[in-house]
Amino acid sequence: MPQLLEILNSAGEYLQKKGSPSPRLDAEVLLADILGMQRIDLYAKFDRPLDQKELALYRKAIARRANMEPVAYIIGRKEFYSREFTVTPDVLIPRPDTEVIVEKVISYAKSFGIESPEILDLCTGSGAIAITLKLEIPSSQVTATEISEKALEIARKNAAKLGADVSFVQGDLYAGIDKQFDIIVSNPPYIKSQDIEKLEVNVSAYEPRMALDGGQDGLDFYRRIISESGKYLKRAGAVFLEIGDDQAGQVASLAEKEKIFAPAMVIKDLAGRNRGVYLKRVK
Ligand SMILES: C[S@@+](CC[C@H](N)C(=O)[O-])C[C@H]1O[C@@H](n2cnc3c(N)ncnc32)[C@H](O)[C@@H]1O
Repeated sequence: MPQLLEILNSAGEYLQKKGSPSPRLDAEVLLADILGMQRIDLYAKFDRPLDQKELALYRKAIARRANMEPVAYIIGRKEFYSREFTVTPDVLIPRPDTEVIVEKVISYAKSFGIESPEILDLCTGSGAIAITLKLEIPSSQVTATEISEKALEIARKNAAKLGADVSFVQGDLYAGIDKQFDIIVSNPPYIKSQDIEKLEVNVSAYEPRMALDGGQDGLDFYRRIISESGKYLKRAGAVFLEIGDDQAGQVASLAEKEKIFAPAMVIKDLAGRNRGVYLKRVK
C-alpha cells in the first residue's frame, strides 16, 4: 500500500504541473480532510499507508483541484475570522479582505459605545459578516438579507452551527426591511460584468456569478445601497462597504450626492490597499 508522504509528494507535483498557485498546500489540505486529520499532523504520520477507499477519494479531490476548483468548495468549508463556515458553490467563499471590514465595524461599535447596536448586513452570502458580528458583539441585533434562497440556506446553517442568533431575510437588498439600523454593512457584488471572464478561473468558473456581477461599471449595488440608505440608517448611523481596490473615489462620490454623510473614509488593509469605505451619517 502506498504511504502518505509518497502520495502527498506526487499529488503536489501533479497540481504544480496543472498550474495551482499553492500545490503543496492544496495537496496537504485535501489529504488531511480525507483522513480527518489536522494538516500539521500529516508529517508525523508520513509512513501511514492509505487504503483503496482513501486513495480513491483523494484522487477525486485532486482531479477537482487540477481543474482549478477552489479547495474550499472541495472540502466544503472555509475559515473566516477564526471560525469555520460551511461553503458550497451557492455562496461566495469568504475572503480575508472582508475580515478587514468586519474588524472596522467591531472597532466602530466599540469606540462609539453603542450598547446594543442594530446591524444590517446586505448580501450576506454564507453569512460570514453577519454571523461574525453577532458573535463578536453579542449584545448586537443582527439582520441579514440575501437574494439567493440557496445561499440563505447556507447562511442559516452556518448561524445554527456557530450559535449566532441572526435574523435572515430573503429578498432584493432592503426588501422586507422596515426599520432603521445603527450600522449597515455590505460586501456586495462589485466586479464589472465584462471583467468577470478575466478573473482567475477558480473564481470565474466556480463562484456564483450573482455574487460577483456589479453591472457594467461595477457600481450598481453601491448606487442602490447608498441612495436608499437614508431610509434604513439611524441619524448617527454608519455604512461600511467593501469595495474593489480602485472604487473608493467613485463610491465616495455616490455618497457625497446623498448629502447626509460626512466625507467618505477609506478603509485600507495591512498592505495599504483600499478595501472599503466608511460613511458616517451626519444629517
Ligand atoms: C460578494 S458576495 C458577498 C457574500 C458575503 N457577504 C461575503 O462577504 O462573503 C455578494 C452576495 O450578494 C448576493 N446578492 C446578489 N444580488 C443581490 C440582491 N439584489 N439582493 C441581495 N443579495 C444579493 C449574492 O447572492 C451574494 O451572496
